Amino acid sequence: MKTLITGATVVFPDETKAANILVEDGKIADINADADVVADDVIDATGLHLLPGVIDDQVHFRDPGLTHKEDLATGSRACAKGGVTTFLEMPNTKPATITIDALHTKLDVAAEKCVVNYGFYIGATPDNVEVLAAAERTPGIKIFIGSSTGNLLVDQQAALERIFGESSLPICAHCEDEATVRANAERLNGGSTWTHHSQIRDHAAALIATKRAVDLADRHQHRFHVLHVSTGDEVKFLRTCSDLITAEACPHHLLFHIGDYERLGSLVQMNPSIKTEADNEEIWAGLLDGTIEVVATDHAPHTLEEKDQPYPQSPSGLPAVENSLALMLNEVNSGRCTLQQVVSWMCEAPARVWNIADKGRIAPGYDADLVLVDMNKTDTVLNENQLTKSGWSPWHGTTLQGWAVRTFVHGETVFVDGQVRENVRGREATYDR
Ligand code: DOR
Repeated sequence: MKTLITGATVVFPDETKAANILVEDGKIADINADADVVADDVIDATGLHLLPGVIDDQVHFRDPGLTHKEDLATGSRACAKGGVTTFLEMPNTKPATITIDALHTKLDVAAEKCVVNYGFYIGATPDNVEVLAAAERTPGIKIFIGSSTGNLLVDQQAALERIFGESSLPICAHCEDEATVRANAERLNGGSTWTHHSQIRDHAAALIATKRAVDLADRHQHRFHVLHVSTGDEVKFLRTCSDLITAEACPHHLLFHIGDYERLGSLVQMNPSIKTEADNEEIWAGLLDGTIEVVATDHAPHTLEEKDQPYPQSPSGLPAVENSLALMLNEVNSGRCTLQQVVSWMCEAPARVWNIADKGRIAPGYDADLVLVDMNKTDTVLNENQLTKSGWSPWHGTTLQGWAVRTFVHGETVFVDGQVRENVRGREATYDR
């Protein structure tokens, strides 16, 4: 099967220019094809930009165990709509992904249900280092150094030393210091408003845990990825770190701050918490100067009913996977960053950080995971249009310019004309080791 995409402005790793892209049997076959090359399907993409599909390296799809919030079918459809062609999912499901069996079960279920490509992290516990050392078919190890949704937590130094010392897969971590969070919560009697959430999960909690994890990575010479950087202090610290360390920022830590609790309440209650406008600015600066390599969502759906509970019963997390690319393209349109930078943060860097084979760039031999975007299209995010099973977005009512209009997974169209093709199936991501 040959598909020719003509007329698009293509975002290559080093340049953005008009090119005709030939896709053959799910791979990019030619990046400079003649416009009249014979193909089974010719797609006229005049006026559109062609990007590598987005790789979201941090999502929570709740399958198994919490599928009233999301499952692998609904989460992956939301990805397809948002231009996300590969997701890497976190282990805090029920049961948690802390055994090889649980990992393989997720992969089997994903093969049945997912319309985009997938990978699953293996979760660390204080005593499963043998599992972590033996795991294959996973991008890496996730440690909750501070607790969040679910009961995964490793904050004892001895256990952390073993994990960094005795495993070889790349490690990523949720960095909020458990002792600091507990002490803050005690001081505030557990907290009673969402503003307290950012005082309980404060700047110090984030910085202490990030420094602790980086110290472990340095001493054990272990590849380490800091998830969801939420403070300017962490960015300043990360500027001093070695090449072993990479980092991620999420749209909500770039675009929301504590002033938004008044309007949005629990809808922007996240772990790590949102911080100040000054933190937003420093995280942007960290992305723009290359200190932070990756933009991903931490898509963490909860139902509105769950979110409607008073603080601190309201759970932390917000869904974002179907709007993240549009949010960032909107920033391109407003002059904050370039399209080339967005492709670096959302496509190329996640593939590099996790050694994902054949993804993240438009080049011959790479998988034809692609997204056509219309940089002129404006649309308003509305709860009623969300494909996430949770059925809402913290950006409800926000008009964005720059949207995915067609998404391809291994050369097959999975989203077009506003519709997801539910019969398409993604594949398991593989890793160059
Ligand atoms: O706010 C959050 N919610 N942060 C996390 O790291 C986990 C997530 C969830 O799973 O709900």
